[in-house]
Amino acid sequence: MSRVQRLVLFASLLLVGLAVRAGSAAAQAPKPPAPEGCVTCHLDTGDERLAQPAKLFDGDIHKAKGFGCVACHGGDGKSADMDAMDPAKGYIGKPGHQQVAQVCGRCHSDARFMKQYNPALRVDQVAEYATSVHGRRLRELNDPKVATCVACHPAHSIKPPSDPASSVHPLRVAQTCGHCHADATYMAGYQIPTDQLAKYTQSVHWKTMSVKGDLSAPTCNDCHGNHGAAPPGVSWVGNVCGQCHTVMADLFAKSVHARAFREMGAPGCAACHANHDIEPASTEMLGIGDKTVCSTCHGADDKGGRAAVEMRGFIDGLRKERDRASEIIERAEHAGMEVSQARFDLNGVTDQLVKARTAVHAFKVAVVKKEADAGLGIAQKVYERGVRALEELRFRRTGLVVSLVIIVVLIAGLVLKIRQIERRTGSPVRG
Ligand code: HEC
Ligand code: HEC
Ligand code: HEC
Ligand code: HEC
Ligand code: HEC
Ligand code: HEC
Ligand code: HEC
Ligand code: HEC
Ligand code: HEC
Repeated sequence: MSRVQRLVLFASLLLVGLAVRAGSAAAQAPKPPAPEGCVTCHLDTGDERLAQPAKLFDGDIHKAKGFGCVACHGGDGKSADMDAMDPAKGYIGKPGHQQVAQVCGRCHSDARFMKQYNPALRVDQVAEYATSVHGRRLRELNDPKVATCVACHPAHSIKPPSDPASSVHPLRVAQTCGHCHADATYMAGYQIPTDQLAKYTQSVHWKTMSVKGDLSAPTCNDCHGNHGAAPPGVSWVGNVCGQCHTVMADLFAKSVHARAFREMGAPGCAACHANHDIEPASTEMLGIGDKTVCSTCHGADDKGGRAAVEMRGFIDGLRKERDRASEIIERAEHAGMEVSQARFDLNGVTDQLVKARTAVHAFKVAVVKKEADAGLGIAQKVYERGVRALEELRFRRTGLVVSLVIIVVLIAGLVLKIRQIERRTGSPVRG
């Protein structure tokens, strides 16, 4: 056995020992430590590689919770000498790729221990990680390029996801993953694209998140899992999207496409919407023609194609009726007519339009038609109310003109009468 091999064996044995002791070690909650010898000496070494961790650690959640260097590296925090790093005192050095998950898991997989700090925190990160493509390749192939815990949570500046400066805050996750996945050189040995970050930052999801500040839109981990990162299999892309778009997912699951897509290996929602560069949806996608998604599989002569054109007709028709009704209500409003009820009813038409567009996912003409018809009914009533308002306006204007004419005639009569009286008396009337 070479020296190196013996050292590795020794370190592994120590780790096993640490893991076994985790329960008891963990049970003693750490006391706020006096400044550790580790920190003082490391800051003094003048070697940036050694000093950097001590400096960064001030902003780390583990420091805030009262832990020190020893929590992960072992050793003797009270000693100010090099023997602080004596393996006999549990010192494990710099954890290698294969060790990191165990080091973190010593606490994070221990439900009893973690409960003392935060009962709501999950304790399945190590187990989930083991099922991910990252974890499997590390374990089975010793692949040094996959993400370990500290690739996504940089050691010494680990922060909770809610902290805007955290590498795993929703607005920063994409960059964290992209650090590897968007680096073509780094990923050169693998057979997968490196365009996910570029495409994602063009998507409606990223815009919703970054421009509108709506953090409920998904970033990488919402679709791939925080720790179980794997490409969603073709069969469960619908489930991934369905976490949020429940109505579409339910309709799709019951539709003729659900089975047909499975059989052809088409990736559910992603077949029509893509996965990373999802754009805002529009009715332009529906039907048979250039920009439509249906024409990838259907022609103008098959049943699906004909249905697509019909659905498009209903939705376009309802949109036209809504615009017509909206236009006449606006004219009446401008003229000062009271049409607030009609304006309110118009919202009902817009709601039906949304429902009809959603109903596309049933891929049945009748379902779209039902929603569109309900909208047309309301639109018709609103339009008629607009017509009546304008008629009333015309009536009032006519009335106004008639009364004006009468008044003018009366005034003219009065003036004539006055002149007549003046002429008779020979002098102007004085008031
Ligand atoms: C008296 C100064 C001193 C003290 C105290 C000290 N260190 Fe170090 N540490 C060093 C020096 C110097 C090195 C670089 C040694 C080397 O490269 O072999 C080092 C290296 C390390 C490394 C990197 C090992 C590697 O393989 O790259 C870690 C991790 C580390 N120390 C953690 C600790 C911890 C944890 C403590 C406290 C329990 C501690 N140190 C206490 C001076 C110190
Ligand atoms: C939450 C666990 C954790 C804590 C606490 C922690 N470290 Fe580390 N440290 C690690 C891990 C994991 C690595 C390996 C990082 C890697 O591979 O990128 C590491 C690496 C290092 C290295 C090697 C850096 C290098 O670039 O080679 C030094 C030195 C070090 N730590 C010192 C410290 C000191 C000093 C403290 C206390 C201020 C500390 N660590 C606290 C987990 C921790
Ligand atoms: C000595 C035990 C211990 C070790 C070892 C440890 N942690 Fe922690 N960690 C904690 C505790 C306790 C918290 C605080 C939980 C809380 O209060 O929310 C925490 C918090 C975190 C958080 C923030 C969670 C949140 O939402 O509040 C992350 C992320 C994290 N740790 C990652 C790691 C990683 C990665 C490693 C390994 C490099 C590691 N931890 C090693 C005990 C540990
Ligand atoms: C591929 C990147 C990645 C890897 C690898 C990774 N994490 Fe995470 N981790 C995340 C993301 C993203 C979140 C934020 C989840 C959220 O927003 O709720 C997170 C959240 C956490 C949290 C907060 C609680 C939670 O589960 O949401 C802890 C603790 C944590 N990770 C520990 C670990 C540990 C321990 C490892 C190694 C076994 C690890 N992580 C590996 C990306 C990663
Ligand atoms: C340290 C670099 C690194 C980081 C950071 C990283 N990954 Fe990976 N990831 C890899 C490597 C390397 C592979 C293996 C590629 C392969 O086998 O095809 C991989 C594989 C994957 C796969 C499987 C791809 C496939 O088709 O096999 C997914 C999905 C994935 N990563 C998602 C993520 C997500 C999401 C994040 C951020 C939360 C992330 N990764 C962070 C390096 C990284
Ligand atoms: C809205 C959900 C969603 C988001 C957000 C998302 N992905 Fe994906 N990703 C998918 C789906 C679905 C697939 C699988 C597509 C398929 O099977 O055809 C996939 C596939 C992948 C793959 C496998 C290789 C490939 O390109 O097909 C990697 C790697 C990956 N995503 C990484 C990422 C990274 C990194 C981010 C963030 C920048 C991200 N994903 C954001 C849904 C998403
Ligand atoms: C974590 C929640 C979440 C997940 C997962 C998710 N989305 Fe979204 N999605 C949103 C939010 C939030 C918006 C923006 C608000 C809106 O318009 O509904 C959005 C917008 C959209 C839009 C544009 C809607 C419009 O009005 O034009 C489409 C299309 C879309 N998502 C498809 C998908 C697909 C396909 C998937 C799966 C690959 C997916 N989404 C996964 C939350 C999610
Ligand atoms: C066969 C193609 C196809 C599939 C599969 C598909 N969609 Fe759509 N989706 C469309 C079309 C076409 C529209 C636009 C309808 C419109 O605007 O008139 C749309 C619109 C949307 C919208 C926006 C609706 C709105 O009211 O603004 C969302 C969100 C959406 N789809 C999500 C999904 C999700 C989630 C899945 C999977 C469960 C899915 N889609 C599957 C074709 C598809
Ligand atoms: C990925 C290919 C694909 C895309 C894209 C696609 N379809 Fe289909 N569609 C199919 C297949 C396959 C069938 C099943 C044919 C069968 O079994 O009769 C089908 C069946 C249908 C049916 C049922 C026809 C019948 O036999 O009654 C309708 C309706 C339909 N599609 C509408 C649409 C609409 C609308 C779009 C665009 C929004 C669309 N499809 C996009 C592949 C696709």
